[in-house]
Amino acid sequence: MARTSETYVCQSCGNVTAKWAGRCDACGEWNTIELEIAEAPPPGALSSGAKAKGKAVAFASLAGDTAPEPRILSGNAEFDRACGGGLVTGSALLIGGDPGVGKSTLLLQVAAGLANAGHSVAYISGEEAAAQIRLRAQRLGVTKAPVNLAAATSLRDILATLKSEKPDAVIIDSIQTLWSDALPAAPGTVTQVRACAQELVRFAKSTNTAVMLVGHVTKDGQIAGPRVVEHMVDAVLYFEAETGRDVRILRAVKNRFGAAHEIGVFEMTAGGLAEVANPSSLFLAENEASISGAAVFAGIEGTRPVLVEIQALVSPSSLAAPRRAVVGWDSARLSMLLAVLDARTGLDFGRHDVFLNVAGGLRISEPAADLAAAAALTSSLLDAPLPQRCVVFGEVALSGAIRPVNQSGARLKEAKKLGFSGALVPAGAEDDALTIREAETLADLVGFIRAEATGAS
Ligand code: TYD
Ligand code: MG
Repeated sequence: MARTSETYVCQSCGNVTAKWAGRCDACGEWNTIELEIAEAPPPGALSSGAKAKGKAVAFASLAGDTAPEPRILSGNAEFDRACGGGLVTGSALLIGGDPGVGKSTLLLQVAAGLANAGHSVAYISGEEAAAQIRLRAQRLGVTKAPVNLAAATSLRDILATLKSEKPDAVIIDSIQTLWSDALPAAPGTVTQVRACAQELVRFAKSTNTAVMLVGHVTKDGQIAGPRVVEHMVDAVLYFEAETGRDVRILRAVKNRFGAAHEIGVFEMTAGGLAEVANPSSLFLAENEASISGAAVFAGIEGTRPVLVEIQALVSPSSLAAPRRAVVGWDSARLSMLLAVLDARTGLDFGRHDVFLNVAGGLRISEPAADLAAAAALTSSLLDAPLPQRCVVFGEVALSGAIRPVNQSGARLKEAKKLGFSGALVPAGAEDDALTIREAETLADLVGFIRAEATGAS
């Protein structure tokens, strides 16, 4: 007879304990531990069952011809790019994001794109009724696309339908609303989400279907409850928005079939999500007049170069511990950069409040942004604008030396394409069309900005 076992599972991180507690030991969240009852297999059934002997697994060699994974394109260039060049058939994709960011909107557009390209698509919603989705489709102008729409939450029903309909691509909105009647746990619990996701991933692999799962994200940026789902699927994309802005960024954080850190950029409009083919246009501030404290960073997001303005404001402080605030960049990195600037160039940021902002709501994590941030900070402190139409990139070492960064050719090419005429870069970068100024140390940077200021006045 099967025994039932009672376990306590944290709904935030999935940690399992034998006793209830108010706070999860693993992730530190409060009130997330809930009782889950599961039927345990009889002892020993998993490894040394009485009748079921294991079958030998065949080994294969690493060499051999394997065709590249077949992909299907949705026609939505930014979405296809974020997936690493289209959806891979027989793979599972998780799309996470805050409620209201536009996940359902994006996926309905993708579904319509796939359907218009001749693929059969099923869009299954556990959150909205078919009528609601139809209204959204009207707003998006995609009512003509032959998408199969269904509102369902029972995993058994959904799998039965999919097995008979055999679509090329399936969208499940959202994984947290699904439930399997084989489990006693309530919908939305870790046990349910994990089991349903596992079942759908298995379905994707066995039938060669591309499955897209929508997942909600908690306030601290984790897919609510089932972190476990992230490990099961082949790719995880986050859909992010900067508060108060229309820019939406679809960011790949894991991809077994393509580059992680690839991004797709969209703008939310009254008629749905518009693709932004040239994201640099969003991240560069409009005004042409040169102001101090602004530097244009030539970055790489995924495989694509993106230019973005870094803005700094440095002002005298009356506080004993001056303020440091940063948006879109790492605050520890800012502290380090300020310390290096103080120590190696003789500038004095210690008695100033420092604010740093990356324009357009982009978040930068590349070390290559160091030199651009240093340029913006120095320019603001000295009240000396950088030359117009000049991009900056380079990594700053603790010694104050400027280190070369990868893909400098691609960065310079993008700058040239967008009408920039100069670049302030580590030694060794080459380009005939741009005026290249090389900086070997932070002292070179400061000297350059000072010279620029006296030359201009
Ligand atoms: P939705 O896709 O429902 O978000 P999610 O599925 O991530 O919870 O998007 C909801 C928001 O998008 C809502 O605030 C309205 C806005 N929106 C537009 O601005 N334009 C549109 O064309 C659509 C369909 C939605
Ligand atoms: Mg939704």
